[in-house]
Amino acid sequence: MIEVESLSKIYGASHAVEEVSFAVGEGEIVGFLGPNGAGKTTTMRILSCFMAPSSGSARIAGFDILHNSLEVRRSIGYLPENAPLYGEMSVRDYLSYVAVLRGVPKAQRAVRLEAALDAGKLEERADTLIRKLSKGYRQRVGIAQAIVHDPPVLILDEPSSGLDPRQRAETRHFIKSLAPQRTVLLSTHILPDVQETCSRVIVINAGRIVAQDAVENLAAGASGLSLVLARPAPDASEKLSRVAGVAGVRREPDGAFSLDLAGQNDAREEIAQLCVAENWGLLELSRRRANLEEVFLKLTTSD
Ligand SMILES: Nc1ncnc2c1ncn2[C@@H]1O[C@H](COP(=O)(O)OP(=O)(O)OP(=O)(O)O)[C@@H](O)[C@H]1O
Ligand SMILES: [Mg+2]
Repeated sequence: MIEVESLSKIYGASHAVEEVSFAVGEGEIVGFLGPNGAGKTTTMRILSCFMAPSSGSARIAGFDILHNSLEVRRSIGYLPENAPLYGEMSVRDYLSYVAVLRGVPKAQRAVRLEAALDAGKLEERADTLIRKLSKGYRQRVGIAQAIVHDPPVLILDEPSSGLDPRQRAETRHFIKSLAPQRTVLLSTHILPDVQETCSRVIVINAGRIVAQDAVENLAAGASGLSLVLARPAPDASEKLSRVAGVAGVRREPDGAFSLDLAGQNDAREEIAQLCVAENWGLLELSRRRANLEEVFLKLTTSD
């Protein structure tokens, strides 16, 4: 549904986005993660035809963003980082106006308007002027306008930003309810939301994709072992790092050893044997499963 190929955006001398490629399949909900300034908004603006790339290409629902931008806009619901709303319009008038702009047939407008108000839980504020709404309610109007024309693809730039916990939960629920009829790419900094709503994540750092995988695979890949020894020899770290499947050994401040594993390799048995053979006094050997936050920090921190 979303196919991105070697997309780059250059501002002056700096690459905001560099050779970015990824795909999002029909019915998938994919999280687009990265630190501030990583290039998420830039990528999403390009995909929504708000901005042309410097090079590369992308297709949405089969339509090329450069050559079929009209069809792309019709196929996409886009929630920008700062939704451009008209303060002097009421919520209802604004959503009707957007429905007309996006070509919703007259006969369907009333139904789509109600669906959009429901998606944003905006029924009670439908006749309020947008300028009188709080930040969170404006965000809800942004979500409502993104789906008013019933697009198959949604691109949501930080949909939960500024929402209270209750509305955040409702937004999560709403996003989950969009699959499998719709394809969703969403950026966010709220990692627990990602864990709950997304089947897959794409991580971007300094304009480049640094990982893309299912949430549980990312966590598994970054998991490791924790080892506590009573009498570790000075060369214990070095010997441990030579065990097959061990990718790295760190000494924690509390004296425990943290071992990174390569791939899915389970090196526990060999490690236990080594500790016994060396008489280091094996007190504890346990698996450490990384959470998404640890994985994210690891992927986006340059060493
Ligand atoms: N109009 C512009 N002119 C020059 N540089 C820009 C412009 N817009 C964005 N950039 C730069 O492009 C890079 C990517 O910005 P972008 O807004 O895509 O990041 P982001 O991942 O959305 O970050 P955030 O999490 O803060 O929203 C940043 O270094 C930013 O300073
Ligand atoms: Mg952004």
